[in-house]
Amino acid sequence: MDYSQKISERQWNQPDKGELESHREETYIDDIIQKDHIERKLLKNLDGIGTVFDGGAGSGRFSILLAKRGLKVTHFDISQPMIDKARELAEKEGVLDRITFVKGALEDLSAYKDGEFDLVMSFDAPVSYTYPNQERVLSELVRICGKRIVISVSSRLGSLPYLANPVQKNQFILDENSEDPFVRWLVEHRAEAVEGFTIRKSELDRVMADGLLGGEQEIAEYENGGAPWCITYTFMPDELERLLGGLGVRNVRLSGPGAFGRTIPREILLKIMNDPAQKKDFLDFCYVYDSNKYVCGMGKDNLLAIGEKIL
Ligand SMILES: C[S@@+](CC[C@H](N)C(=O)[O-])C[C@H]1O[C@@H](n2cnc3c(N)ncnc32)[C@H](O)[C@@H]1O
Repeated sequence: MDYSQKISERQWNQPDKGELESHREETYIDDIIQKDHIERKLLKNLDGIGTVFDGGAGSGRFSILLAKRGLKVTHFDISQPMIDKARELAEKEGVLDRITFVKGALEDLSAYKDGEFDLVMSFDAPVSYTYPNQERVLSELVRICGKRIVISVSSRLGSLPYLANPVQKNQFILDENSEDPFVRWLVEHRAEAVEGFTIRKSELDRVMADGLLGGEQEIAEYENGGAPWCITYTFMPDELERLLGGLGVRNVRLSGPGAFGRTIPREILLKIMNDPAQKKDFLDFCYVYDSNKYVCGMGKDNLLAIGEKIL
């Protein structure tokens, strides 16, 4: 089994994962923007859709959303804690009967027939976590898709700024007193991250060229019993467009959720987020700006694509 899959299995099956992931929108402003963008994109594109496959569906943010719209959803994920959390939330929302939960890896979709699902979706980068199989996984997702595909993958242009800004995620913390362990870590290590920082041009050049985040260090940590982040493949916008086109997906539209938000400093973002009227206007405009193909690479760190499968 490839390292990304092995590492993902360990990383995402940590017991607290489902609980933490389900609170992201209470914790991080960039997640609010990104998930709001995806929700709008989905709800505008449900015509003719009855069945849905959600690959790497997590704690059910979008599988439950679509089940609540009356669609029949297969919620597929490598992580049991994620599935358990999603099942609990689906029960609360009264949609358990419309969701089939499947524990599995995107690397093997052989159980599903060609065109089995009207809509195939996969959000917040599960395809990027299947390195070095990301192209095969993409082609399998397109194979089981009958009408429309909506996916978000890691964006190379969007991820590179993180390598030159170790405190970028701090910009998006909603409440610095939150008990979320990652928030605590970010706040407590902020000074150290700045002090210890030096620009590493060779690393920037390498990621720009090969698109890989992580490598030997993660493999060694995994082999020593740790649970690092998996080796992640980041896509360029033209690459994703070309790959999907080559697989027979037509009318591909790209967007970069979070591109507008990342230009705004935290003090201003907090003012906007803490005022419901401003927040609504802001999210409305983020959707328009981030849907412009000229900024699609600069999303928070994800690149979103939507397209039609012509059978
Ligand atoms: C960042 S979360 C996104 C969850 C959800 N799609 C959302 O947008 O809220 C990524 C999810 O992908 C799942 N995942 C990671 N690698 C996977 C793989 N190889 N096969 C299936 N699921 C995977 C994780 O367990 C996790 O639930």
